[in-house]
Amino acid sequence: MSDFFSGFWSYYISIIALGGIVFCVWLLFSQRAWLKKEVKQAENTGHVWDGNLSELNNPVPRWWTVFYLLLCIFALGYLVLYPGLGRFQGVLDYSSAEAVRAAQRAQAEQIQPVYARYESLSIPQIAGDHEAQQIGQRLFLNNCAQCHGSDARGGPSFPNLTDGDWLYGGSPEQIEQTITKGRHGVMPPWRGTIKPAEASDIAQYVRSLSGLAADSLRVVPGKRGYDTYCVACHGVEGKGNQAVGAPNLTDNVWLHGSSEATIVDIILNGRENHMPAQERILTAQQIRMLTAWVWGLSNEGETAD
Ligand code: HEC
Ligand code: HEC
Repeated sequence: MSDFFSGFWSYYISIIALGGIVFCVWLLFSQRAWLKKEVKQAENTGHVWDGNLSELNNPVPRWWTVFYLLLCIFALGYLVLYPGLGRFQGVLDYSSAEAVRAAQRAQAEQIQPVYARYESLSIPQIAGDHEAQQIGQRLFLNNCAQCHGSDARGGPSFPNLTDGDWLYGGSPEQIEQTITKGRHGVMPPWRGTIKPAEASDIAQYVRSLSGLAADSLRVVPGKRGYDTYCVACHGVEGKGNQAVGAPNLTDNVWLHGSSEATIVDIILNGRENHMPAQERILTAQQIRMLTAWVWGLSNEGETAD
């Protein structure tokens, strides 16, 4: 409860919490004359339904009154022990966030021996271990599948991790780096510099690089545009640059799509893509298991036993 930006909310919550209890106690005492009433004959309210169902007005039973008071006392005791009154931490100093962290620590400790076995193994060795692969796959399904798909084949704007084609490199170190620190691919927009007609020529040239149908007359001016604006990142031959995550444009593997309209849109408006860093979500050991699993997807023949 220490996340408030202003002290006002701390008072606001405290007053509502304590006010609620005070109100309940006051309500009980305001009715005490009536509570004490001896019941000889239940009072009839005079309301009658269905001819013979009449409504009585009985005082509440004593056990109920006592229970009600005990609950109010319990509520006050709870607010003294646990956080509930704005910024006040409670005398037990309990915090649900700390409880979650403690549970996570306990679980990490419990699972430690399982991971310890793989510490001395290389990534290809882990990738060849059946049990490690099962752990890797489960971690992937829980943490990565929502973006990369449960079969890791990705989808529009989410890279396929099984095809041996890498934006940022497929060595164990590069994959580990990608997962640990995340990646941020930025293709700048060219709207201000390149006219739509010229972008469309460049798109024809880009398509021709992968052997897709392209208008041969427009490919020539398209190449000139490409050589002027695009080589810095995608390279003279269009093979891309893993240092900045610029895709290879010659392999007919498309992150965003291969239609002329899509490519023109990318040239004019640019693209930004984000792979979230996992270092604060997963432990280094979990990231190693994932690295091995992902590496194994496109290196099946090379895993070591
Ligand atoms: C929120 C969506 C999201 C999640 C979750 C996510 N990724 Fe990614 N990942 C991406 C995107 C988007 C890219 C491409 C980044 C780019 O184009 O710059 C990417 C790129 C990658 C790459 C680089 C691929 C290449 O060709 O170089 C790897 C490896 C990867 N992710 C693995 C993982 C693993 C393992 C997990 C689970 C721990 C994971 N990702 C979770 C969205 C996600
Ligand atoms: C500053 C570096 C940079 C420059 C210059 C650049 N690009 Fe890119 N481009 C990238 C990056 C990085 C990506 C990947 C974006 C992502 O991760 O989604 C990309 C993505 C693309 C894609 C999508 C490929 C796919 O697989 O879907 C196309 C097409 C493309 N660029 C074409 C061009 C063309 C044509 C030019 C010149 C007009 C150009 N780029 C200039 C960095 C650049």
